[in-house]
Amino acid sequence: MCGIVGYLSYFCPRDRQYVLDTVLNGLSRLEYRGYDSAGIAYDGNTPDETRIIKQVGKVSALKKLVKEQEKDVDFVYQSQFSMAHTRWATHGEPTTSNAHPHRSDSNNTFTVIHNGIVTNYKEIKTVLENKGVKFQTDTDTEVVTKLIKYIYDSQRGRKLEFHRLVKATCRELEGANAFIFKSIHYPNEIVVFRRGSPLMIGIKTDKNLDIDFVDVEFSNDVEISDNKNDIVPDVSAKRAQNHLHSAIGGDNQSIEYFFSSDSSAIIEHTKKVLFLEENDIAHISAKGDLRIHHFQREEGMSSIRSIKTLEMELAEIMKGSFPHFMLKEIYEQPESVFNTLRGRVDFKNNVVTLGGLRSHLSSIRRCRRIVFCACGTSYHSCIATRNIFEELTEIPVSLELASDFLDRQSPIFRDDVCVFVSQSGETADTIMALKYCLQRGALCVGVTNTVGSTISRDTHCGVHINAGPEIGVASTKAYTSQYLALVMMALQLSEDRSSMVERRKEIIQGLRGLPDKIKEVLKLDEQIKAISGSGLHKEKSLLILGRGFNTATSLEGALKIKELAYIHCEGIQAGELKHGPLALIDEHIPIILIITKDCHHSKSISALQQVLARKGQPIILCNTDDKEIPQGYTTIRIPSTVDCLNGILAIIPLQLLSYHLAVSNGVDVDFPRNLAKSVTVE
Ligand code: F6R
Repeated sequence: MCGIVGYLSYFCPRDRQYVLDTVLNGLSRLEYRGYDSAGIAYDGNTPDETRIIKQVGKVSALKKLVKEQEKDVDFVYQSQFSMAHTRWATHGEPTTSNAHPHRSDSNNTFTVIHNGIVTNYKEIKTVLENKGVKFQTDTDTEVVTKLIKYIYDSQRGRKLEFHRLVKATCRELEGANAFIFKSIHYPNEIVVFRRGSPLMIGIKTDKNLDIDFVDVEFSNDVEISDNKNDIVPDVSAKRAQNHLHSAIGGDNQSIEYFFSSDSSAIIEHTKKVLFLEENDIAHISAKGDLRIHHFQREEGMSSIRSIKTLEMELAEIMKGSFPHFMLKEIYEQPESVFNTLRGRVDFKNNVVTLGGLRSHLSSIRRCRRIVFCACGTSYHSCIATRNIFEELTEIPVSLELASDFLDRQSPIFRDDVCVFVSQSGETADTIMALKYCLQRGALCVGVTNTVGSTISRDTHCGVHINAGPEIGVASTKAYTSQYLALVMMALQLSEDRSSMVERRKEIIQGLRGLPDKIKEVLKLDEQIKAISGSGLHKEKSLLILGRGFNTATSLEGALKIKELAYIHCEGIQAGELKHGPLALIDEHIPIILIITKDCHHSKSISALQQVLARKGQPIILCNTDDKEIPQGYTTIRIPSTVDCLNGILAIIPLQLLSYHLAVSNGVDVDFPRNLAKSVTVE
């Protein structure tokens, strides 16, 4: 739940300022992953000196401190290293001592930054304490620094290669983790390890990098040749064997490596990246060679790691003229929704084709049930689309919050299809649920926004929602694109059902107009800002009522208001009103009531009557052409669309409302307190 970024260059005339700025600027882009403290480690004036600076607060506070403390900015060395970390506290308070990097001792013999949780750190700590090792912090990461030093010191004269030392250390660790290791015993070297938390390596050379993949070396030291289990590379693909640097010219050839939790910290330097797989250990040797090692060969595992070219531009992940990423992302929805649809819908013949599902369509159609599994906003996109999924496919759909699903160890069978929805593709609960379903033989489908993420790689098939990078901690455009991708999935699955021809046609034609209708909804921004400014931001509590296709809208709107405006807000299924929540209704409690023109319209109107009868003063979110809404109440009017797509339009005013309420309440919108974008811990 933290962000890590590292940099290592060979034969590049970079001064220290550049080396520090590279990781600190990268760290700012990772701040959405956590931001209660930050720290940096970097080469001193000799290869066996590592300096560390840490600070509580955001990355800007660390940058200021580094500027004050680091005077030798001109220093240039043959190899230059730095690594930095932004923390979201899990073990130990957000203090300077608990901030990363952590070190094994006052000489900084081993320095480590870490994303994830070492779940068995207490047991390891007890063993080490019994051997006389002393600890300075409350963190799980410090245990790793002490453990690696302990193993190093126990070698008695031998000196394990750095990657073998890391392997011996990580073998003892449990949990989902990604690490960068640095040691003064191994000058000019770095080892990184990934298990359960994302980590990628960017590669930049002054030559054109025309290498397509790097071989993996397995710990049993068996020579890896072309194996039938390998993903067979394109015949034209160039192989770096396992010596990337040698393959591009070797000694004195300049090469830079960037390590990061995600591509936003790397993209401004290089588009060539290598995604590490589970249990991969990447070692950059003192000569600048990159080698990938692995614990042991598992069945079906590829023995290569491809070097991919990122398609995204830095501008795509920058704020542009918007004051916050969140607002930018809300305004991007006409485009992001268009991108979700792009190339997948044939409006003439009413056909939807999601290429990633094609080879598994018949198995999905034959399944006995579909299980949607996700967390937070992604879970709401599942609630929003269950109705239409069941209607079109006639396959029962069950909804699972990943954490609860795991708590219950719910039964899963080989003829189940499990759909994992996740913007980041890295949410630990969802990944654990995926592993659970894979073990039980279910067909697993991923719906993610992040190409190369764990969920997109570990599922059998899936759909990328193509919403573009989402940086604001509160999810907005990913929600509407997830919603749409799931509707499209239902459309594709039902293409062979003759009874659904007309219904499918209606929905597919409805998709065509969505981007323009979203633009219409965005024009309500000023009105919504005025509603927010009329005192709503000072309220302690707020209710949002919706039913049918808008049950999810009420839950998602309430989540946005809670997490951003810090106002208690409850999303209530309007059919449940009379079973309890009606007791809350009077002339004082602020209420938003969603009423769209669909088969639930008359029931929603009756919920309105129940509220009005108790002197409630609702703000009514309804369609422009709805004449049944009584006069005299504040209305937010959105265009009509096909019933099952209403929720895509209806959520946007609530996203805008939560944004304006947050700004009025002085919240740092892109970084609400206690939250992180990518929840990579259980
Ligand atoms: C809320 C929000 C979270 C995420 C949840 C799952 O605005 O963003 O509720 O939806 O943490 O994250 P992903 O979709 O990355 O699995």
